[in-house]
Amino acid sequence: MPRDEWLDPHPTPEESEAVLAEENGLRPTTMHDFVGQAELKERLGIILEAARARRRPADHLLFAGPPGLGKTTLAGIVATELQAHLHITSGPAIERAGDLASILTKLEPGDVLFIDEIHRLPRVVEEVLYPAMEDRQIDVLLGKGPAARSIRFELEPFTMVGATTRTGLITGPLRDRFGFAFRLDYYSSSDLQEIVVRAAKLLEVEIDQAGAAEIAGRSRGTPRIANRLLRRVRDYAEVRGNGVIDERSAADGLAVFGIDGRGLDKIDQLLLSNLCENFGGGPVGVSNLAISVGEPAETVEDVIEPFLIQQGLLVRTPRGRVATPASWRHLGLEPPPEVTLVEEPPALFD
Ligand SMILES: Nc1ncnc2c1ncn2[C@@H]1O[C@H](COP(=O)(O)OP(=O)(O)OP(=O)(O)O)[C@@H](O)[C@H]1O
Ligand SMILES: [Mg+2]
Repeated sequence: MPRDEWLDPHPTPEESEAVLAEENGLRPTTMHDFVGQAELKERLGIILEAARARRRPADHLLFAGPPGLGKTTLAGIVATELQAHLHITSGPAIERAGDLASILTKLEPGDVLFIDEIHRLPRVVEEVLYPAMEDRQIDVLLGKGPAARSIRFELEPFTMVGATTRTGLITGPLRDRFGFAFRLDYYSSSDLQEIVVRAAKLLEVEIDQAGAAEIAGRSRGTPRIANRLLRRVRDYAEVRGNGVIDERSAADGLAVFGIDGRGLDKIDQLLLSNLCENFGGGPVGVSNLAISVGEPAETVEDVIEPFLIQQGLLVRTPRGRVATPASWRHLGLEPPPEVTLVEEPPALFD
């Protein structure tokens, strides 16, 4: 079953350019406009202000967390706040060490280099990155075989910003070379409400606080989903109502698009019901669970599970995934008496 596109925190290839442009238009460009994540904002603000005052590039920064929470947005904000040029690339796009070398040697003093999905950098490329981050040097191998020689390049001072949905997949040596690693958490309903109100203003849609709260509460803690639900509710309000989003039109609009009161979509529901009904509530390995919903294990781990874990509907244990009593009840089922929870802090990204 295909995942409901507009509830998926990843932008899909099918999303039209117009929608993506609209998403870009909603992206905060300054720290001031970035809603929520107060602790992160404070620490990042200090790092950037200090760098600016010293007129030096900031330390390399890593942003980790589930999709749609603002990692790319923050990379842009870092560049804006440092008044620096932003270069954007991603782990899978850099195939060879030479690709990275050509990106790095083009950097001007103070530039910000953003590497998205940095956990997907090939290992040989990652090894070139270490001395680049640490000593601003790279060694490029020219030629092949016995005639090969290595040439050293000095790099301009730069700030690297990495983003990843999986901190667990980042190697120790790479993680150690970042001056600071930030973890983004799911947003509170009140932060999401503020994000929705801000986005509505930019989209020139009339909305009241109750309407924004209704959308915020069903956005899986994720700003990208909040913005997407806002656009669907806007469509609904324009076609079926007077164009104004209030509690009523938001609730009706969301119901038309099949979002449940907790913001779970069909695939979330399917995963939970397979876990409870077919696997007796677990423990079951992630690969079996993934097959049962027809998604790659990586999608289950990165996109679907973190929110279910955060909601207390699922736990990861050394022996596999286990449904919580809340999960059984959410499906309208009676939890079996033997459901005992393994005491273990939920690992969100590992
Ligand atoms: N703190 C925030 N305040 C306001 N809007 C936000 C915030 N964070 C994210 N957004 C909105 O959510 C959208 C998605 O954010 P972004 O693209 O930065 O997520 P991401 O973490 O990079 O996701 P992915 O892992 O899929 O790349 C942005 O277009 C932006 O409009
Ligand atoms: Mg991104």
